[in-house]
Amino acid sequence: MKFFVDTADVNEIRELNDLGLVDGVTTNPSLILKSGGKIAEVTKQICDIVSGPVSAEVAATEYSEMMKEANALAKIADNVCIKVPLTLDGLKACKAIRSDGRLVNVTLCFSANQALLAAKAGATFISPFVGRLDDMGIDGMDLISEIRTIYDNYGFQTEILAASIRTVNHVKQAALIGADVITAPPATLKALVKHPLTDKGLEQFLADWKKTGQTIG
Ligand code: G3P
Repeated sequence: MKFFVDTADVNEIRELNDLGLVDGVTTNPSLILKSGGKIAEVTKQICDIVSGPVSAEVAATEYSEMMKEANALAKIADNVCIKVPLTLDGLKACKAIRSDGRLVNVTLCFSANQALLAAKAGATFISPFVGRLDDMGIDGMDLISEIRTIYDNYGFQTEILAASIRTVNHVKQAALIGADVITAPPATLKALVKHPLTDKGLEQFLADWKKTGQTIG
């Protein structure tokens, strides 16, 4: 399973990339706002750090405007993946951008039928939002399972990019279901390493090591 980091914070991306945990990056208008930077500059900085796909989202809602923005974003770097919303215009843009040989991430997916449409439009990635469904009392992981089944039934190549991942349990569940990619905030990715028995065990080993009076090397 690939790990994408869901942030436009360049320092966080650099830190996680140095750990070997970044296969790609996803951004959105809210994350660009949070970064305080301009989309073209922030996206370029991220693409200079990460060689995998870096999703940058169009802000237009009408097809021809989306295509203009997609062309501008595509000029930033070869690994920019154009993110479009799951609307009819977004699907049309997806098809056109893919035929130009670019990567496309279709975002704001909340149903299996939407995911089916994105696959038929040739999306590189489909982004079902797990956490936002959970927020409504609907199990977001059920959607990941449904999409996995549908894509496998028909051999669709679109990769399932589980998004709106908020917890370490989301990551485990997505991996068990067979999502191709998860995108999670830096804090969630870093939290994956934590286990109280690891901390307790390390504490004991260090205490015993001190008692040996030995050094290594
Ligand atoms: O990439 C978009 C998605 O991950 C948003 O997450 O937590 O704002 O629902 P969230």
